[in-house]
Amino acid sequence: MPRSIRCLPAAEMVQATALLLVLFLALGAQGLAVKKCSLTGRWVNDLGSKMNISPVNKNGGFTGSYHTAVTATSNEIKESPLQGSMQRSPNQKGQPTFGFTVNWSFSDSITVFTGQCFVDDNGEEVLKTMWLLRSHEENIKNDWKATRVGFNVFTRPQPPE
Ligand code: BTN
Repeated sequence: MPRSIRCLPAAEMVQATALLLVLFLALGAQGLAVKKCSLTGRWVNDLGSKMNISPVNKNGGFTGSYHTAVTATSNEIKESPLQGSMQRSPNQKGQPTFGFTVNWSFSDSITVFTGQCFVDDNGEEVLKTMWLLRSHEENIKNDWKATRVGFNVFTRPQPPE
């Protein structure tokens, strides 16, 4: 009988099956790869504020710009710089925690944001954040009213139609 149509011996059968299994799992894992959330790029929040984050460096540091849609002051709004840090521990599983500070260039205030970058059930990236906005007070007696707190949700801007 020609070798090609002879039955494979048991050991070779096991080897072939194992090889097929590994191949199947590798392809399957690729197809099911979990989408990661990246901070880099443009974002818009629920107030209409816009933010652009530059690529995160090897230490997790990043910079960017923030254009708020609202202000607690009567000043003209101007684009302001931000500086932040992203947690890079391997436990973050593609949904990293982060914090950043916006040093407002048109007011005496400063805002710190802290949050997490998620991929939602629709596969969309979303930043769930909380913030503290510290205003400047002339008198220590007014310290009690100097800090506002809130939430913002950032999503990727939709491309124009
Ligand atoms: C100021 O009013 O002194 C500076 C602007 C503050 C804007 C705040 S920060 C938290 C909230 N989220 C935004 O996008 N804008 C407001």
